[in-house]
Amino acid sequence: MAGLISRVIFILCCFVLSEQQNILKKEAYQTVSQLIISAGYPVEKHRVTTTDGYILQLHRIPAGKRTARKASSAKGKKAVLICHGILGSSSDFVIMGPEKSLAYSLADDGYDVWLTNLRGNIYTSHQNYTRNNPKFWEYSFHEHGKYDLPASIDKVLSVTGLSKILYIGYSMGGASFFVMASERPEYNDKVISFLALAPAVYLPNIKPIAEFLLKDLNILDQFRAQGIHSVSIQRNVLDMFIKSVCYSKKPENNICMRIIYMVIGNDEEQYDKDITALFLARFQPASFRQLEHFGKVAMTDVFTSWEDGLWGSVKPYNFSNVRVPVTLLYGENDQLTEKSQILRLAAELNATGVLDDVRPASSWPKFNHLDFIFAYDIDSIFIKPFLTTITSLFNKYG
Ligand SMILES: *[C@@H]1O[C@H](CO)[C@@H](O)[C@H](O)[C@H]1NC(C)=O
Ligand SMILES: *[C@@H]1O[C@H](CO)[C@@H](O)[C@H](O)[C@H]1NC(C)=O
Ligand SMILES: *[C@@H]1O[C@H](CO)[C@@H](O)[C@H](O)[C@H]1NC(C)=O
Repeated sequence: MAGLISRVIFILCCFVLSEQQNILKKEAYQTVSQLIISAGYPVEKHRVTTTDGYILQLHRIPAGKRTARKASSAKGKKAVLICHGILGSSSDFVIMGPEKSLAYSLADDGYDVWLTNLRGNIYTSHQNYTRNNPKFWEYSFHEHGKYDLPASIDKVLSVTGLSKILYIGYSMGGASFFVMASERPEYNDKVISFLALAPAVYLPNIKPIAEFLLKDLNILDQFRAQGIHSVSIQRNVLDMFIKSVCYSKKPENNICMRIIYMVIGNDEEQYDKDITALFLARFQPASFRQLEHFGKVAMTDVFTSWEDGLWGSVKPYNFSNVRVPVTLLYGENDQLTEKSQILRLAAELNATGVLDDVRPASSWPKFNHLDFIFAYDIDSIFIKPFLTTITSLFNKYG
């Protein structure tokens, strides 16, 4: 009897211990399709190959929750294509679950929602290169704009039979659109309107960090010398890291968030330990070239192409080639893509006549760079007003 009791206690203890250790919710490990299905929405996967051999997966939510069971429910709908930022994926727009995720809200509002994945994240591969091949990682947002977005847009148009989409780009997803418009101006004709959420175009605030890491420490070349070409963290290492230093009730005790807030702007009121852990656990790899290209932009203070490399010539992307109406939304407390820099971009777009609007994305005064993705109150402080913006853009353009 005593033996049985002690065994039961032992098992209970193990259970409690493992419960505590397993702080990451199951959503941390689910694929985007699984997340969407668990949330009660229909999902489709589509694959497209870029002209330079990368295979990208797009996730589509063709209908809202209520209409999920009706056949061909995407017919006649207006399509929106949403593009993530660096370290992100299509998961960024569903990770907060129903009621709190941009993709679900748009689907419930009657849009045909497409989420793209830029080369490098787990929903992408290459025809001929594995992830261990350094050539796989030879890309930056230049290639995202020149190859990934055109391929994704063409895929959406061919599946839906539509002639245009509305494009929403977050951070690097916005920068990539400007590259596309500059390098492949024919794609202007396939876009109704471009909504840029905190586009990563001018980044003078990270100039000191970029100079320190890329110039003084030359840190990436040192990693390259050891055969490392991307920031890719092994799943179990990442989990352990999150559990040990990136998880705490109070944001000020969360070392990871303190570092992140230093770069993107502090917003402790919108912090939630579980959401933060979930978000960090789903981080995607970044290529060194991406970091260097942004570093070059920051250090030169020019939205320059990569050309002959980090220290090579500076050649600005041509904003005059942007021909679609652009709406720029910024966070009042975004330290990465700061308000002043978004206004600077706005003035340039205004000069060529394509600026539709520039304004804060939210009335929340501490709204920072990541609040676009996982603010605790994202539904009220961002998504609701955003849906109104989408409605008015479609009313205006089509
Ligand atoms: C991949 O390999 C095939 C067969 O060797 C070749 O025809 C193709 O051009 C390669 N694609 C790329 C993007 O390198
Ligand atoms: C930028 O694009 C505009 C419009 O297409 C063109 O007239 C201009 O020459 C381009 N500028 C450069 C520097 O290429
Ligand atoms: C855009 O240009 C117009 C006309 O020059 C000017 O009245 C307006 O204030 C400008 N808007 C912005 C946001 O710069």
